[in-house]
Amino acid sequence: MTLFKFPRTVYFQRDIIDSLGELLSKEGIKKALIVTDRNVLNLIGDRIGKALSIMETEYLTDVLPEPSIKQINEAISNLRSRTYDAVIAIGGGSVIDFSKAIAVAISNPQADLGAISPFESINLKTKLVAIPTTSGTGSDVSFGVVLSDGEGKLAMGNYELVPEIDILDSSLTPVSRNIVVPTGIDAFVHSFEAIASNTSSILTDALAERAIETIFHNLKGAIENEEGAKDLMHLSATMAGIAFSNSGTASAHALGHSFGAVFHVTHGTSVGLFLIPSIIFNSQNPETRDKYLRVSRILGGSDVDSLVSKIKNFFKSVGQPCRIRDLGIDERIYSSKLDQLVSLSLRDSELAFNPVLAGEEDIRKIFVGNY
Ligand SMILES: [Fe+2]
Repeated sequence: MTLFKFPRTVYFQRDIIDSLGELLSKEGIKKALIVTDRNVLNLIGDRIGKALSIMETEYLTDVLPEPSIKQINEAISNLRSRTYDAVIAIGGGSVIDFSKAIAVAISNPQADLGAISPFESINLKTKLVAIPTTSGTGSDVSFGVVLSDGEGKLAMGNYELVPEIDILDSSLTPVSRNIVVPTGIDAFVHSFEAIASNTSSILTDALAERAIETIFHNLKGAIENEEGAKDLMHLSATMAGIAFSNSGTASAHALGHSFGAVFHVTHGTSVGLFLIPSIIFNSQNPETRDKYLRVSRILGGSDVDSLVSKIKNFFKSVGQPCRIRDLGIDERIYSSKLDQLVSLSLRDSELAFNPVLAGEEDIRKIFVGNY
């Protein structure tokens, strides 16, 4: 059986945050726990406070990047109440993931947060509402949750963690190119990987193809802070999120995760570096090649080669590096890390979704060729 899960309701409109109280009341939410971080609070705390003045609210405002289980347990112990109609995440991927774990913990105080699995009901007793403030991660529509246990990352998931309501307001998204580019590239790569994944379907392909087209034509405008382009980027990042969370990500994420972890490079930049080599490698599969041909035509190309050159030009136009050397990493240092990069990639769970079996030598070749 194949399952397709996404939020029950997606609201999208610029400045909709200013009507958040009315909107949530209509959804039957009278008492909410707002989860956010200091940065978001500094930028839009007044807007949120004003919009939610008609509701009973409590706040958790100290979410840090890559939240740990210890932080979640500490946050829970400081709450006045443990019953809320909704947990409302306002922020980027870390805030949304933190909120998912908080929703589990307040619903089931005995739950082991490190053992969330897709196979057991987590019996949520509160609604999850996501209000993403970046256009890229897809956490607002996915069942995944990434936490840390003090030693490393724990990537877990459960379908009950797909937020019930997703609210897309592009007025909340950043203006800094340093965030807009990598998050936009991440969404672009999510779409390609959703299409390539060996669990893709025409349902996920349709969302991913349209997201690729929209991001290709609008990321530059979003960098220049054009409202229309930012609106479209926000919506297409969510479409890409629905596509990949119901399909999968593949080799660009497996290799990009490893590269990012070793060289401390942002997620979107890292996965972007491995998109073109992944397309070339995965074109060995005739079915995947046909899918890339469709995308190539959508972008005005005619074959996989022209798709690759269109992506290269697109990357250059938005400032996404195409090769490792573009980041200024020394070749000798890079070569000395190859064994580590290959072994981390082989252990990455996303590799299981790749349409072409990628062995140790294949992965090494991609890393070497991509310098
Ligand atoms: Fe990603």
